[in-house]
Amino acid sequence: MTKPKRIRKAVLPVAGLGTRFLPATKAVPKEMLTIVDRPAIQHVVNEARAAGIEHFVFVTGRGKSAIEDHFDHQFELEATLSAKKKTRELEDLLAELPAAGQTSFTRQQAPLGLGHAVWCARDIIGNEPFALLLPDMLHHGAAPCLGEMIEAHTQTGGNLIAVSPVPEDQTHQYGIVGVEDPKAKVSRITSMVEKPPKGTAPSNLHITGRYILEPEIFDLLARQEAGAGGEIQLTDSMIALSKDPQHAFHAVRFDGDIYDCGSKIGFLLANVAYALEREDLGPELKAALKALV
Ligand code: G1P
Repeated sequence: MTKPKRIRKAVLPVAGLGTRFLPATKAVPKEMLTIVDRPAIQHVVNEARAAGIEHFVFVTGRGKSAIEDHFDHQFELEATLSAKKKTRELEDLLAELPAAGQTSFTRQQAPLGLGHAVWCARDIIGNEPFALLLPDMLHHGAAPCLGEMIEAHTQTGGNLIAVSPVPEDQTHQYGIVGVEDPKAKVSRITSMVEKPPKGTAPSNLHITGRYILEPEIFDLLARQEAGAGGEIQLTDSMIALSKDPQHAFHAVRFDGDIYDCGSKIGFLLANVAYALEREDLGPELKAALKALV
């Protein structure tokens, strides 16, 4: 195997309407809702930066410009913090900002599904393997999920998908994969299916929303065939790509906790979990929660 190319770019699809969080999302993108004191999307960008990603491609839509503003300098705020000698706050703010030229924004234009959103990034990604992070899914563990996948990619090359077990009665809500060795940290994928009807899933390992994909996926996405739910599904193109032995798919088991912030319960739990691990908030919150429940 030739040495796999380094993963430099990441795609973040952020065009969803956030209808499940109305009215909060009427004028604010759902990705800007806060998990403790940063927007959900910042946590995901931080995970990608920690894994060595250098360029962030946001696939956005109408009403999402707050995301673009968030990942830019805010001159008045920075000048005010500086004048007031709030050095620590200013440093913290700047530490999480990607550098100039490290972000790109393109619009999906129509809500045709995840596969279509990823395809919209094709020209910005070009001919190199890339990471894909679905921002609704917060991965919280000792080792950052994308970092583990990029490490695995140096050994396997090809395509990788993060997976984790879900209860059998939830498999119909996700993409599900079958693997050669369900207990291994990294294992070859033998089958994939998007939202299998109840009782038909090949395993209980769900696709958690972190991927490393080869650029050949764009040729398949370009066919733009609708799948489950009438949407252009990424999973369908991954299945087609995996049929070519030159484009193997491996699953990387994520051992931490995953919060599906597309649901209200997942979003609320993420806030509690991220706050509990903070030195400045955890002990007080724990005591307050105990008193509350
Ligand atoms: C998408 C993917 C699915 C994956 C899920 C994770 O589905 O199509 O394979 O398991 O994200 O959140 P969606 O949540 O967009 O319906």
